[in-house]
Amino acid sequence: MSDTLNLTLKIWRQKNSTSAGKFETYPLKGISTHMSFLEMMDVLNDQLIKKGDEPVAFDHDCREGICGMCSLYINGRAHGPMEATTTCQLHMRHFEDGETITIEPWRAAAFPVVRDLVVDRSAFDRIMAAGGFISVNTGSAVDANSLPIPKHNADEAMDGATCIGCGACVASCKNASAMLFVSAKVSQLALLPQGQPEKHRRVMNMVAAMDAEAFGNCTNTGACEAECPQEISISHIARLNREFLCANLVK
Ligand code: FES
Repeated sequence: MSDTLNLTLKIWRQKNSTSAGKFETYPLKGISTHMSFLEMMDVLNDQLIKKGDEPVAFDHDCREGICGMCSLYINGRAHGPMEATTTCQLHMRHFEDGETITIEPWRAAAFPVVRDLVVDRSAFDRIMAAGGFISVNTGSAVDANSLPIPKHNADEAMDGATCIGCGACVASCKNASAMLFVSAKVSQLALLPQGQPEKHRRVMNMVAAMDAEAFGNCTNTGACEAECPQEISISHIARLNREFLCANLVK
């Protein structure tokens, strides 16, 4: 089996948030199956620059599956065909020689296109600023085990904390709901003693910020959980709903 691929890329090109975008087609030859998806995009951009054309703008930072910056919709799926995999961790061996690959930006009203495949995800930052933090006195670290936490709670909190804020949940949801993201952030703090003092204020403020950013509501289709590269469970959304109800009862 050959370890190079000849591909056809159909890529969304858009100058800015106000201009109309359209798909452009680019043939690409001799792509190594050992390359990552973003390295393949780098090869395309090298060729475009050498020809004097505008390179394709796309987001990335760590290229290690940590930062959540890479955000491509590949062949109709957030982060492409592999489960539990970010775009930067996706390798070209998962594609066929001769394949046409369609690459789009995240599509959501709350994530306007900045250019080509780059979208503005600062709506997530504003939700975090509304309550995704704890206020504690700083100082030296307390002794280990001075604050016992049940193992189940610690594990669940850690699962929520693995959210990298990439926005795949929003992009894959037919309602463009941000509930998986918000629930992971609320849940991780609601499960830990450190998150208790502000727990009611936090959930009220984060849900209000989410609504103000024009994200849709959750209708339990589970698309977010299926496409989340961190495999975050929608059980966090159930906890978010419980936290929100409790906060409303005591306000
Ligand atoms: S570039 Fe950081 S997660 Fe993909």
